[in-house]
Amino acid sequence: MQDKHGHRISYLRVSITDRCNERCGYCMPAELQEWLPREGVLTYEEILRVIDIATQLGITKVRVTGGEPLTRRDVVPFLKKLCGIKALRDVGLSTNGTLLSRAVPGFRNTAEALFAAGIKTVNISLDTLDPSSYAAATGRDYFDRVIDGIDAARQAGFERIKINAVLMRGRSEEQLLPLVEFAHKNDLLLRFIELMPVSISDVLSESSFLPVAEARRGLEEVLGNLERREDFRTNGPASYFKVPGRDQLVGFIGAMTNPRFCESCNKLRLTCDGKLRPCLGSHLEFDLMKELRAGASDSEVIEFIERVVERKPMEHDFRENYQPGRKMIAIGG
Ligand code: 5AD
Ligand code: SF4
Repeated sequence: MQDKHGHRISYLRVSITDRCNERCGYCMPAELQEWLPREGVLTYEEILRVIDIATQLGITKVRVTGGEPLTRRDVVPFLKKLCGIKALRDVGLSTNGTLLSRAVPGFRNTAEALFAAGIKTVNISLDTLDPSSYAAATGRDYFDRVIDGIDAARQAGFERIKINAVLMRGRSEEQLLPLVEFAHKNDLLLRFIELMPVSISDVLSESSFLPVAEARRGLEEVLGNLERREDFRTNGPASYFKVPGRDQLVGFIGAMTNPRFCESCNKLRLTCDGKLRPCLGSHLEFDLMKELRAGASDSEVIEFIERVVERKPMEHDFRENYQPGRKMIAIGG
């Protein structure tokens, strides 16, 4: 599938829940969150059907997100079915890491069960290695659980484990180096992400924004010149740099400051309430749940997806004084 700007769409990010066991300020609004009622969320059967149909249009990679996807009941059997869809080359999971070390029947922990289900890559959010700053950022005192979760994931045998660290001025500067060292020691692929105005929240002000270029310069002062590695690409939008003297790459996701950020976008997003979104940073969304529940045939779903791809914008609207409409948690990072 290709849109009119030349974006080749091969990647679907699927949010399976709006719920989360943490309360990150940049993702959740500060006021009390009202969860969607159960019937307002796509069933696993509906999600699997959409993905299966989307593979006929060239989707080969799926990433499951939330909210926190591991809070949804029966997520492992769902993922197993998802990984069984033959046309998918890669099924990944984005998680806050707090539940990866939780025991599940038949396995040592959830991470092992996910690996056995066929998940190849996990992305774990970790913005800071300081337990009290972690608790302040996420509203929960779960730092140790995340570290246990990362250990569990490492032992489970995933192809790749990425750590996502969102950059925030006043919090991230002193964490840059510790995070790089932690990633190096534990063989994790670290990526720093610019804060995006995706939710209605006080922390998303200009004053908390820290550009990736500044983070990179800060690291270079200590580590020496970071060398851009154009040849290294995952499926995502990060630019990777090599740390001198070691076999370590660090990624930077400059969604706000990189003017070419959207050029290589290959994504569509399916929200947990069944809206198909052509772009995270645009208000456009199309109600696929309504079509599904009105009895749409496979070919009608295909046409629906194609129409959404046609509406994919050239680039996101974040720089144009964007006013978030939806909470990040309801879109799926
Ligand atoms: N800006 C940038 N990244 C965000 N995430 C959540 N909210 C934001 C935001 N406002 C990240 C999470 C997670 C990923 C799925 O999205 O930290 O790593
Ligand atoms: Fe939960 Fe992730 Fe949002 Fe934090 S960023 S509140 S962990 S979904």
